[in-house]
Amino acid sequence: MKQLCVHKYKYPSEVYVPVVPNFLERQLFRLQPQLAPFLDLWGAGAFEAVLLASRLGVFEALRGGPRSASTLANEIKTDERGTKSLLDLLVPLGYLKESNGSYAITTISKPFSADSSFHMADTFALYSGLFEFMRENQEEAVRDGKPRVNAFEWFSQHPPMWKLFHSFEMSIAKQIEKDIVSKVKLPSTARRLLDVGGGHGLYSIMLCKNHPELSATIFDSPTPLEETRGIIESEGMSKQVHTRAGDFFVDDMGEGYDVALLFDIVHLFTPEKNSELLKRVAAALKPGGMIVIFDQFLGGEFGKVLKFSHTFYNLLFLITTGGQLYSFRDLSELLLESGFAKLTKKPIRTAGSTLVFATKVGSE
Ligand SMILES: C[S@@+](CC[C@H](N)C(=O)[O-])C[C@H]1O[C@@H](n2cnc3c(N)ncnc32)[C@H](O)[C@@H]1O
Repeated sequence: MKQLCVHKYKYPSEVYVPVVPNFLERQLFRLQPQLAPFLDLWGAGAFEAVLLASRLGVFEALRGGPRSASTLANEIKTDERGTKSLLDLLVPLGYLKESNGSYAITTISKPFSADSSFHMADTFALYSGLFEFMRENQEEAVRDGKPRVNAFEWFSQHPPMWKLFHSFEMSIAKQIEKDIVSKVKLPSTARRLLDVGGGHGLYSIMLCKNHPELSATIFDSPTPLEETRGIIESEGMSKQVHTRAGDFFVDDMGEGYDVALLFDIVHLFTPEKNSELLKRVAAALKPGGMIVIFDQFLGGEFGKVLKFSHTFYNLLFLITTGGQLYSFRDLSELLLESGFAKLTKKPIRTAGSTLVFATKVGSE
């Protein structure tokens, strides 16, 4: 049978997600494999239902306790029949449980509430926008082998997208903060850090909080940096963390840095563009300076979920920014030819990503 992109997992409590065929249904699909693609089609429907529930405030309202469809409809100002249809669909998806006509949130719908440390509601809204972008641009991108429109430029024309993007990336950053702080070991002499494409700035903020002698420059395009300044201020880090706007392929990023971060950057570009960028970063670092790269890398896919995720993101990066996923070996070659040596790596398993460290050739 066709390998489906939906899989069944038993979560610690009673929650099952997403819907996949049971044993008998699988036999049916074996007899009629031409029907299997419907599961992917319904998977898209499941995404829309969860997005709709999130937008209507269903999960937020149910945080206050289980409710009937009619009580909930009253509260979120929706039609009772429409609300019940939506709630009933969320039950087999595992996002709600139902008992005697009362609906309650589950472990997997908790991250949709506003006070969750992972902003799943923003993540779904972001991906809704990304899918819209993909639908508009993917045919040309796959025909040409590169996008005609860069997703980040499209974000700047659709202002909520930057906020959602920052929120998603910050959710990831917060999940792995402890790992980053313990695994990114900066030399005791490090004073100046360059965060290349630092976006929201949280990685610089967390490193500066742990190294009071360090100051950081977040280099990014002008539009995303507008929000970054507010984030730095709200974290009380304005003295140590600064922003610098520009295009890192064109504009001066400064020089004499001890450390440069490239977090979730290399997958955005082709090998040629990365080689250009890495050389520019090498030029901004002191001899002996350290580069720290954080990204997902190909290889070692031990399961179907990771295999799907890597192939999905590989295509998504091509369509959105012209990039791709790299193996550690590909990246090593790029680093070595761009003036770096002494490569090491440390996995950050919770993010399915890896930290790669290298040193700019030449002594201080
Ligand atoms: C995937 S985000 C990574 C953000 C952050 N480093 C992180 O790991 O969460 C990529 C960032 O690179 C920035 N970027 C992409 N191309 C750029 C360019 N040519 N010049 C400056 N910034 C750029 C984007 O604006 C975005 O903030």
